[in-house]
Amino acid sequence: MTDIQITLTKEPKALPPTDNLGFGNYFTDHMFVAKYSEDKGWYEAKILPYGPLPLDPGASVFHYGQALFEGMKAFRQADGKIVFFRPEFNQVRMAQGAERMCLEAPPMELFMKGLHEVVKADARWIPNEPNTSLYIRPTLIGTESFLGVRPSRETMFFIMLSPVGSYYAEGVKPVKIWTEEKYLRAAPGGLGAVKAGANYASSLKAALEAKKKGYAQVLWLDVEHQGIEEVGTMNVFFVFNNEIVTPALNGSILNGGTRDAIVELLKHKNLPIVERKITITEVVERLQKGELREAFGTGTAAVISPIGELHYRDKDWKINGGQTGELSTQLYKEITGIQRGELPDPFNWITPLK
Ligand code: COI
Repeated sequence: MTDIQITLTKEPKALPPTDNLGFGNYFTDHMFVAKYSEDKGWYEAKILPYGPLPLDPGASVFHYGQALFEGMKAFRQADGKIVFFRPEFNQVRMAQGAERMCLEAPPMELFMKGLHEVVKADARWIPNEPNTSLYIRPTLIGTESFLGVRPSRETMFFIMLSPVGSYYAEGVKPVKIWTEEKYLRAAPGGLGAVKAGANYASSLKAALEAKKKGYAQVLWLDVEHQGIEEVGTMNVFFVFNNEIVTPALNGSILNGGTRDAIVELLKHKNLPIVERKITITEVVERLQKGELREAFGTGTAAVISPIGELHYRDKDWKINGGQTGELSTQLYKEITGIQRGELPDPFNWITPLK
Protein backbone atom coordinates (compact mmCIF):
# COMPACT_ATOMS: atom_id res chain seq x y z
CA MET A 1 0.00 0.00 0.00
CA THR A 2 1.01 3.55 -0.67
CA ASP A 3 2.65 5.37 2.30
CA ILE A 4 0.87 8.30 3.89
CA GLN A 5 2.65 11.62 3.57
CA ILE A 6 1.93 13.86 6.56
CA THR A 7 2.00 17.68 6.42
CA LEU A 8 0.75 19.30 9.61
CA THR A 9 -0.75 22.78 9.70
CA LYS A 10 1.34 25.74 10.84
CA GLU A 11 -1.81 27.56 11.91
CA PRO A 12 -3.86 25.35 14.26
CA LYS A 13 -7.33 26.76 14.84
CA ALA A 14 -8.78 27.70 18.23
CA LEU A 15 -11.02 24.90 19.54
CA PRO A 16 -14.76 25.70 19.62
CA PRO A 17 -16.58 25.79 22.98
CA THR A 18 -17.85 22.26 23.63
CA ASP A 19 -21.10 23.16 25.38
CA ASN A 20 -22.98 24.04 22.17
CA LEU A 21 -21.28 22.24 19.28
CA GLY A 22 -24.44 21.19 17.41
CA PHE A 23 -23.79 18.92 14.44
CA GLY A 24 -21.26 19.49 11.65
CA ASN A 25 -20.58 23.15 12.39
CA TYR A 26 -16.82 22.94 12.95
CA PHE A 27 -14.04 21.18 11.05
CA THR A 28 -10.69 20.20 12.48
CA ASP A 29 -7.18 21.21 11.36
CA HIS A 30 -6.47 18.30 9.02
CA MET A 31 -7.98 15.93 6.49
CA PHE A 32 -6.93 12.70 4.82
CA VAL A 33 -6.98 12.50 1.02
CA ALA A 34 -6.04 9.62 -1.29
CA LYS A 35 -6.51 9.23 -5.04
CA TYR A 36 -7.21 6.26 -7.28
CA SER A 37 -6.88 5.83 -11.01
CA GLU A 38 -7.22 2.70 -13.10
CA ASP A 39 -3.55 2.78 -14.16
CA LYS A 40 -1.94 3.95 -10.89
CA GLY A 41 -4.13 2.21 -8.32
CA TRP A 42 -4.26 4.13 -4.99
CA TYR A 43 -1.66 6.92 -4.84
CA GLU A 44 -0.86 10.27 -3.15
CA ALA A 45 -2.28 9.33 0.26
CA LYS A 46 -1.83 12.41 2.43
CA ILE A 47 -2.70 14.03 5.73
CA LEU A 48 -2.78 17.75 5.02
CA PRO A 49 -4.20 20.96 6.47
CA TYR A 50 -8.03 21.06 6.11
CA GLY A 51 -9.02 23.14 3.11
CA PRO A 52 -10.53 23.24 -0.40
CA LEU A 53 -9.97 20.31 -2.77
CA PRO A 54 -8.63 21.03 -6.25
CA LEU A 55 -11.22 19.48 -8.60
CA ASP A 56 -11.79 19.86 -12.31
CA PRO A 57 -15.24 21.35 -13.11
CA GLY A 58 -15.81 18.32 -15.34
CA ALA A 59 -15.42 15.86 -12.42
CA SER A 60 -18.20 13.27 -12.51
CA VAL A 61 -19.24 14.08 -8.93
CA PHE A 62 -20.52 17.48 -10.09
CA HIS A 63 -22.52 16.25 -13.06
CA TYR A 64 -23.64 12.70 -12.40
CA GLY A 65 -23.57 12.66 -8.62
CA GLN A 66 -20.96 9.93 -8.09
CA ALA A 67 -20.63 10.54 -4.35
CA LEU A 68 -20.86 8.20 -1.39
CA PHE A 69 -20.10 8.79 2.26
CA GLU A 70 -19.92 7.17 5.68
CA GLY A 71 -20.75 8.50 9.12
CA MET A 72 -18.81 7.22 12.11
CA LYS A 73 -17.50 8.45 15.44
CA ALA A 74 -14.45 8.55 17.72
CA PHE A 75 -14.77 9.08 21.47
CA ARG A 76 -12.48 10.20 24.26
CA GLN A 77 -13.09 7.85 27.17
CA ALA A 78 -12.87 8.82 30.86
CA ASP A 79 -9.26 7.51 31.14
CA GLY A 80 -8.24 9.60 28.11
CA LYS A 81 -8.19 6.65 25.69
CA ILE A 82 -9.40 7.49 22.17
CA VAL A 83 -11.56 4.86 20.51
CA PHE A 84 -13.58 4.24 17.34
CA PHE A 85 -16.99 2.59 17.26
CA ARG A 86 -17.13 -0.31 14.75
CA PRO A 87 -14.87 1.17 12.04
CA GLU A 88 -14.80 -2.09 10.05
CA PHE A 89 -18.58 -1.87 9.61
CA ASN A 90 -18.12 1.46 7.85
CA GLN A 91 -15.32 0.25 5.57
CA VAL A 92 -17.36 -2.78 4.52
CA ARG A 93 -20.49 -0.70 3.93
CA MET A 94 -18.48 1.86 1.95
CA ALA A 95 -17.09 -0.93 -0.23
CA GLN A 96 -20.61 -2.30 -0.87
CA GLY A 97 -21.89 1.19 -1.70
CA ALA A 98 -18.91 1.91 -3.96
CA GLU A 99 -19.75 -1.17 -6.01
CA ARG A 100 -23.31 0.15 -6.58
CA MET A 101 -22.01 3.66 -7.36
CA CYS A 102 -19.28 2.41 -9.75
CA LEU A 103 -16.55 4.01 -7.62
CA GLU A 104 -13.36 2.39 -6.34
CA ALA A 105 -13.52 1.57 -2.61
CA PRO A 106 -10.45 2.13 -0.46
CA PRO A 107 -9.17 -1.25 0.75
CA MET A 108 -9.49 -1.99 4.50
CA GLU A 109 -5.80 -1.22 5.14
CA LEU A 110 -5.88 2.21 3.46
CA PHE A 111 -9.20 3.12 5.08
CA MET A 112 -7.91 2.22 8.56
CA LYS A 113 -4.49 3.80 8.11
CA GLY A 114 -6.01 7.08 6.88
CA LEU A 115 -8.57 7.02 9.69
CA HIS A 116 -6.04 6.42 12.47
CA GLU A 117 -3.53 8.96 11.11
CA VAL A 118 -6.02 11.79 10.67
CA VAL A 119 -7.64 11.25 14.07
CA LYS A 120 -4.18 11.10 15.66
CA ALA A 121 -3.28 14.42 13.98
CA ASP A 122 -6.46 16.04 15.34
CA ALA A 123 -6.78 14.22 18.68
CA ARG A 124 -6.95 17.52 20.59
CA TRP A 125 -10.31 18.19 18.84
CA ILE A 126 -12.10 15.20 20.42
CA PRO A 127 -14.46 16.57 23.06
CA ASN A 128 -15.16 14.57 26.21
CA GLU A 129 -18.35 16.11 27.62
CA PRO A 130 -21.43 13.85 27.75
CA ASN A 131 -23.26 13.66 24.38
CA THR A 132 -20.23 14.87 22.43
CA SER A 133 -17.86 13.02 20.08
CA LEU A 134 -15.72 13.42 16.99
CA TYR A 135 -17.91 12.77 13.95
CA ILE A 136 -15.94 11.26 11.07
CA ARG A 137 -17.01 11.64 7.45
CA PRO A 138 -15.15 9.29 5.05
CA THR A 139 -16.22 10.25 1.51
CA LEU A 140 -15.71 8.88 -2.00
CA ILE A 141 -16.19 10.94 -5.15
CA GLY A 142 -15.73 10.41 -8.88
CA THR A 143 -13.06 12.88 -10.02
CA GLU A 144 -12.43 12.09 -13.68
CA SER A 145 -13.35 14.98 -15.98
CA PHE A 146 -15.61 14.06 -18.92
CA LEU A 147 -19.21 14.61 -19.93
CA GLY A 148 -20.38 11.34 -21.46
CA VAL A 149 -22.51 9.39 -19.02
CA ARG A 150 -20.31 6.55 -17.71
CA PRO A 151 -18.50 5.70 -14.47
CA SER A 152 -15.48 7.81 -13.53
CA ARG A 153 -12.16 6.00 -13.90
CA GLU A 154 -10.74 8.10 -11.06
CA THR A 155 -11.87 8.19 -7.44
CA MET A 156 -10.90 10.44 -4.55
CA PHE A 157 -11.24 9.22 -0.97
CA PHE A 158 -11.14 11.80 1.79
CA ILE A 159 -11.84 11.84 5.51
CA MET A 160 -12.95 14.99 7.30
CA LEU A 161 -13.61 15.39 11.02
CA SER A 162 -16.05 17.47 13.03
CA PRO A 163 -16.45 17.71 16.82
CA VAL A 164 -20.20 17.33 17.47
CA GLY A 165 -22.87 17.45 20.14
CA SER A 166 -26.50 16.45 19.53
CA TYR A 167 -27.77 16.12 15.97
CA TYR A 168 -31.17 17.65 16.68
CA ALA A 169 -31.82 21.10 18.12
CA GLU A 170 -34.08 19.24 20.58
CA GLY A 171 -30.91 17.59 22.00
CA VAL A 172 -31.81 14.13 23.26
CA LYS A 173 -35.47 15.07 23.72
CA PRO A 174 -38.25 13.46 21.62
CA VAL A 175 -38.68 14.73 18.06
CA LYS A 176 -41.79 15.29 15.96
CA ILE A 177 -41.94 13.33 12.69
CA TRP A 178 -43.98 13.92 9.53
CA THR A 179 -45.10 10.88 7.51
CA GLU A 180 -44.32 11.76 3.90
CA GLU A 181 -46.78 10.81 1.18
CA LYS A 182 -45.95 13.24 -1.62
CA TYR A 183 -42.22 12.68 -2.12
CA LEU A 184 -40.23 9.43 -2.26
CA ARG A 185 -36.70 8.89 -0.95
CA ALA A 186 -35.87 5.68 -2.80
CA ALA A 187 -37.41 2.89 -4.85
CA PRO A 188 -36.56 -0.81 -5.31
CA GLY A 189 -33.44 -1.15 -7.45
CA GLY A 190 -32.42 2.45 -6.71
CA LEU A 191 -29.77 3.82 -4.36
CA GLY A 192 -31.73 3.67 -1.09
CA ALA A 193 -29.58 0.97 0.48
CA VAL A 194 -26.31 2.82 -0.03
CA LYS A 195 -25.09 6.00 1.56
CA ALA A 196 -25.12 8.00 -1.67
CA GLY A 197 -25.26 11.77 -1.47
CA ALA A 198 -28.08 11.50 -4.04
CA ASN A 199 -30.44 9.98 -1.44
CA TYR A 200 -29.99 13.03 0.74
CA ALA A 201 -30.45 15.38 -2.24
CA SER A 202 -33.77 13.68 -2.96
CA SER A 203 -34.82 14.05 0.69
CA LEU A 204 -34.20 17.79 1.10
CA LYS A 205 -37.46 19.18 -0.28
CA ALA A 206 -39.68 16.99 1.90
CA ALA A 207 -37.55 17.74 4.97
CA LEU A 208 -37.76 21.47 4.28
CA GLU A 209 -41.55 21.36 3.91
CA ALA A 210 -41.89 19.25 7.08
CA LYS A 211 -39.65 21.66 8.97
CA LYS A 212 -41.83 24.61 7.95
CA LYS A 213 -44.76 22.74 9.52
CA GLY A 214 -42.80 22.20 12.75
CA TYR A 215 -41.48 18.63 12.25
CA ALA A 216 -37.83 17.69 12.77
CA GLN A 217 -37.74 14.93 10.11
CA VAL A 218 -39.87 12.90 7.72
CA LEU A 219 -40.82 9.25 7.92
CA TRP A 220 -40.25 7.76 4.47
CA LEU A 221 -42.66 5.22 3.04
CA ASP A 222 -42.17 2.81 0.14
CA VAL A 223 -43.48 3.34 -3.40
CA GLU A 224 -46.93 2.12 -2.35
CA HIS A 225 -46.99 4.71 0.46
CA GLN A 226 -47.48 1.86 2.92
CA GLY A 227 -44.25 0.11 3.95
CA ILE A 228 -42.21 2.10 6.45
CA GLU A 229 -38.62 2.62 5.31
CA GLU A 230 -36.65 5.02 7.51
CA VAL A 231 -36.60 8.52 8.94
CA GLY A 232 -34.53 11.22 7.15
CA THR A 233 -31.23 10.59 8.94
CA MET A 234 -32.12 7.52 11.02
CA ASN A 235 -33.48 3.98 10.92
CA VAL A 236 -36.66 3.52 12.91
CA PHE A 237 -37.86 1.13 15.66
CA PHE A 238 -41.38 0.63 17.08
CA VAL A 239 -41.88 -0.85 20.54
CA PHE A 240 -45.19 -2.73 20.82
CA ASN A 241 -46.47 -4.66 23.82
CA ASN A 242 -45.29 -8.00 22.45
CA GLU A 243 -42.50 -7.16 19.98
CA ILE A 244 -39.97 -4.56 18.92
CA VAL A 245 -40.08 -4.03 15.17
CA THR A 246 -37.67 -2.40 12.75
CA PRO A 247 -38.25 -2.50 8.98
CA ALA A 248 -36.32 -5.36 7.36
CA LEU A 249 -33.50 -4.36 5.00
CA ASN A 250 -35.43 -4.60 1.74
CA GLY A 251 -32.90 -3.10 -0.66
CA SER A 252 -34.07 0.50 -0.36
CA ILE A 253 -33.41 1.01 3.37
CA LEU A 254 -29.97 2.01 4.63
CA ASN A 255 -28.18 -0.69 6.63
CA GLY A 256 -27.47 1.67 9.51
CA GLY A 257 -24.54 0.89 11.82
CA THR A 258 -26.49 1.93 14.92
CA ARG A 259 -29.53 -0.04 13.68
CA ASP A 260 -27.31 -3.10 13.36
CA ALA A 261 -25.81 -2.57 16.84
CA ILE A 262 -29.24 -2.07 18.45
CA VAL A 263 -30.62 -5.24 16.84
CA GLU A 264 -27.61 -7.14 18.26
CA LEU A 265 -27.98 -5.51 21.67
CA LEU A 266 -31.71 -6.33 21.86
CA LYS A 267 -31.04 -9.97 20.85
CA HIS A 268 -28.32 -10.16 23.52
CA LYS A 269 -30.90 -9.01 26.08
CA ASN A 270 -33.38 -11.66 24.85
CA LEU A 271 -35.86 -8.96 23.91
CA PRO A 272 -38.30 -9.80 21.07
CA ILE A 273 -36.71 -7.83 18.21
CA VAL A 274 -38.17 -8.58 14.79
CA GLU A 275 -36.94 -7.28 11.43
CA ARG A 276 -39.94 -7.37 9.12
CA LYS A 277 -42.09 -5.28 6.84
CA ILE A 278 -44.23 -2.87 8.82
CA THR A 279 -46.84 -0.59 7.29
CA ILE A 280 -48.04 2.83 8.37
CA THR A 281 -51.57 1.36 8.53
CA GLU A 282 -50.40 -1.17 11.14
CA VAL A 283 -48.64 1.53 13.17
CA VAL A 284 -51.77 3.72 13.18
CA GLU A 285 -54.04 0.77 14.05
CA ARG A 286 -51.78 -0.19 16.95
CA LEU A 287 -51.59 3.45 18.07
CA GLN A 288 -55.43 3.48 18.13
CA LYS A 289 -55.45 0.31 20.23
CA GLY A 290 -52.86 1.77 22.61
CA GLU A 291 -50.33 -0.94 21.69
CA LEU A 292 -47.46 1.32 20.60
CA ARG A 293 -45.41 2.03 23.67
CA GLU A 294 -42.42 3.82 22.14
CA ALA A 295 -40.79 4.69 18.84
CA PHE A 296 -37.24 5.82 18.27
CA GLY A 297 -34.75 6.48 15.51
CA THR A 298 -31.17 5.21 15.41
CA GLY A 299 -28.19 6.71 13.60
CA THR A 300 -24.53 7.52 14.05
CA ALA A 301 -25.34 11.22 14.19
CA ALA A 302 -28.67 10.90 16.00
CA VAL A 303 -27.61 7.97 18.30
CA ILE A 304 -31.02 6.99 19.79
CA SER A 305 -33.61 9.65 19.16
CA PRO A 306 -37.05 9.15 20.71
CA ILE A 307 -40.06 9.98 18.55
CA GLY A 308 -42.59 11.91 20.63
CA GLU A 309 -45.11 12.65 17.93
CA LEU A 310 -45.98 11.14 14.56
CA HIS A 311 -48.04 12.99 11.98
CA TYR A 312 -50.01 10.87 9.49
CA ARG A 313 -52.55 12.39 7.11
CA ASP A 314 -54.43 14.93 9.23
CA LYS A 315 -53.63 13.66 12.69
CA ASP A 316 -50.76 14.07 15.15
CA TRP A 317 -50.30 10.97 17.28
CA LYS A 318 -48.51 11.38 20.59
CA ILE A 319 -46.27 8.42 21.40
CA ASN A 320 -45.67 7.63 25.07
CA GLY A 321 -47.32 10.96 25.93
CA GLY A 322 -44.60 12.74 23.93
CA GLN A 323 -41.98 11.59 26.46
CA THR A 324 -38.80 9.57 26.07
CA GLY A 325 -39.62 5.90 26.66
CA GLU A 326 -37.97 3.47 29.04
CA LEU A 327 -36.34 1.35 26.33
CA SER A 328 -35.03 4.36 24.38
CA THR A 329 -33.46 5.70 27.58
CA GLN A 330 -31.92 2.34 28.44
CA LEU A 331 -30.54 1.74 24.93
CA TYR A 332 -29.11 5.25 24.76
CA LYS A 333 -27.33 4.70 28.08
CA GLU A 334 -25.99 1.32 27.01
CA ILE A 335 -24.71 2.28 23.59
CA THR A 336 -23.11 5.54 24.78
CA GLY A 337 -21.81 3.71 27.88
CA ILE A 338 -20.00 1.19 25.66
CA GLN A 339 -18.69 3.97 23.43
CA ARG A 340 -17.39 6.00 26.37
CA GLY A 341 -15.85 3.00 28.13
CA GLU A 342 -18.26 3.22 31.09
CA LEU A 343 -19.80 -0.19 30.32
CA PRO A 344 -18.20 -3.48 29.19
CA ASP A 345 -18.06 -4.13 25.43
CA PRO A 346 -19.08 -7.80 25.01
CA PHE A 347 -19.54 -7.28 21.25
CA ASN A 348 -16.01 -6.03 20.48
CA TRP A 349 -17.40 -2.84 19.00
CA ILE A 350 -14.61 -0.63 20.32
CA THR A 351 -11.27 -0.18 18.49
CA PRO A 352 -8.59 1.90 20.24
CA LEU A 353 -6.70 4.55 18.26
CA LYS A 354 -3.28 3.15 17.35
C1 COI B 1 -25.06 9.58 10.13
O1 COI B 1 -25.80 9.32 11.07
O2 COI B 1 -23.85 9.37 10.17
C2 COI B 1 -25.57 10.16 8.91
O3 COI B 1 -24.90 10.04 7.94
C3 COI B 1 -26.86 10.84 8.92
C4 COI B 1 -26.85 12.23 8.41
C5 COI B 1 -26.12 13.21 9.26
C6 COI B 1 -26.58 12.37 6.97
